[in-house]
Amino acid sequence: MLKIGDIEMKNRVVLAPMAGVCNPAFRLIAKEFGVGLVCAEMVSDKAILHGNKRTQEMLYVDEREKPLSLQIFGGDKETLVEAARVVDEQTNADIIDINMGCPVPKVVKCDAGARWLLEPKKIEEMVSAVVKVVKKPVTVKMRIGWDEDHIYVEDNAKAVESAGGKAVAVHGRTRQQMYRGHANWEYIRLAKQAVSIPVIGNGDVFTPEDAKRMLETTGCDGVMIGRAALGNPWMLYRTVHYLEHGELLPEPSPSEKIRIALLHMDRLINLRGERIAVREMRKHATWYLKGLPGASKIKDVVTQQETREGMADVLLTFVRELEREPAAEQANLQQETA
Ligand SMILES: Cc1cc2nc3c(=O)[nH]c(=O)nc-3n(C[C@H](O)[C@H](O)[C@H](O)COP(=O)(O)O)c2cc1C
Repeated sequence: MLKIGDIEMKNRVVLAPMAGVCNPAFRLIAKEFGVGLVCAEMVSDKAILHGNKRTQEMLYVDEREKPLSLQIFGGDKETLVEAARVVDEQTNADIIDINMGCPVPKVVKCDAGARWLLEPKKIEEMVSAVVKVVKKPVTVKMRIGWDEDHIYVEDNAKAVESAGGKAVAVHGRTRQQMYRGHANWEYIRLAKQAVSIPVIGNGDVFTPEDAKRMLETTGCDGVMIGRAALGNPWMLYRTVHYLEHGELLPEPSPSEKIRIALLHMDRLINLRGERIAVREMRKHATWYLKGLPGASKIKDVVTQQETREGMADVLLTFVRELEREPAAEQANLQQETA
């Protein structure tokens, strides 16, 4: 089982931190779909110290989501340490995660995110400074390296361990790759061999079988799933079940997908109010619809919705028509893809 510090997860499946996605609305759904650990979207150290309303919201953890890992990022030791102290003392997150993988220029330029991957010494210095001031276990999420000529994943994982970090999550891509190419799981295996703290493998797990293969080929302790869960929390549930029972559960029906999409929207509305939530829901609705026959036809309508009523109406009408005429829709789909 996956254990981080004293916190024991009920299984080895982890929801990846995803900015703009992993707020309490989606995290709770992921949790209800069985994941062992949910990760919150990254929050900047400076924003935490500034403490505005939006950041306060990002630090909110619903009891039902626990165990939860809250991710921070920053480039200055002082502010990173202070932000970690705030998360430690003022939130009920279980784990403090430090982002060392974010590739976007805005973050890297401030010496944060993936920037540290070039300097194991800096990793050790930053992580130990945080570990010293907090009670909650500290973990790090990293990419394998900066580019293919600078892959220091083993040294970097060791630096986390010797600094007192309690686990490391490794995304099998370099910073330079952004999200292109493939995640190289071989480096996850090397990281696992280099340290005795738990290693969570990440990158390109798109099916339950991928998750099993990652666990088996790398020896990692947990498997972290990101994009495959977008609009598809069943992926998490099916993975948990597959790892436990070796059985592949069926994909959800279209109406089940829409039922959860509406639940997701209502939870977002509770958090953010209707106007912002429905706008945010546009991308999620598109993801929930992905793969359903004829979904591409309503994509534009979905992305124009402003109200709960409008969004619910579009989604429910779509699914009602789809389930009334499945045979006709199938034929259309075949034509579309022909
Ligand atoms: C929309 C989106 C937002 C992300 N935000 C974060 C983030 O806040 N912190 C982080 O460490 N990684 C972030 N990531 C990276 C994911 O956690 C994960 O490492 C990556 O997507 C690879 O895993 P996957 O192949 O399962 O998607 C994000 C990825 C996506 C697609």
